[in-house]
Amino acid sequence: MSVRIAPSLLSADFARLGDEVSAVIEAGADLIHFDVMDNHYVPNLTVGPLVCQAIRPYAVRGPGHEPVPIDVHLMVKPVDALIPMFAQAGASIISFHPEASEHIDRTVQLIRSHGVKAGLVLNPATPLSVLDHVLDQLDLVLIMSVNPGFGGQRFIESALPKIEAVRRRIEASGRDIWLEVDGGVNADNAARVAAAGADTLVAGSAVFTGGRYADSIRTLRERALA
Ligand code: DX5
Ligand code: ZN
Repeated sequence: MSVRIAPSLLSADFARLGDEVSAVIEAGADLIHFDVMDNHYVPNLTVGPLVCQAIRPYAVRGPGHEPVPIDVHLMVKPVDALIPMFAQAGASIISFHPEASEHIDRTVQLIRSHGVKAGLVLNPATPLSVLDHVLDQLDLVLIMSVNPGFGGQRFIESALPKIEAVRRRIEASGRDIWLEVDGGVNADNAARVAAAGADTLVAGSAVFTGGRYADSIRTLRERALA
């Protein structure tokens, strides 16, 4: 069993984004989590495909290594028009919220048609039934453990039984679908999040606060694997 750690750039120093990407990769990050907010679907505004493209060259481990995947979390509505642009900008995974798409299956197909992995995001109050007819098309399910829009919020405990339930559905599907958890993940709850069935942990403030990226990532990984 292993766990992937995906630092969220939302808590990085935006004036030095390329260096921040290099630093968390050097510190052990498995993915780069890239939060896109539109001040419409969520009450905050961040960055778009141009910035994704700008950081792409920094998301590498060195010669001979695969590029480090950029995990794009779209909190935008409507969502479809941005998908080709993020694919072009080097996204490896694109996840979207079902509330932001008129046709969930169509949006999933659009992502996959660009050779990008597709993820569906469940907010704290979004029912699991949204997965009913689309799970087999997904590469990733992202469970929000805060309401989307801001870093540094407190982990919502009701996410834990939800993670367990999605893990059961993934096992039943027999497919290799990643189960990612986003929001308020830290050293205190990483063990419970992983025990519930998450294999990919997003962490913004828990990685970037304090500046000791390698220590923070190692601690999260150790706790998750304990
Ligand atoms: C919230 C974002 C998260 C956020 C996580 O809407 O999707 O990725 O940056 O930050 P922390 O880990 O600080 O909750
Ligand atoms: Zn996110």
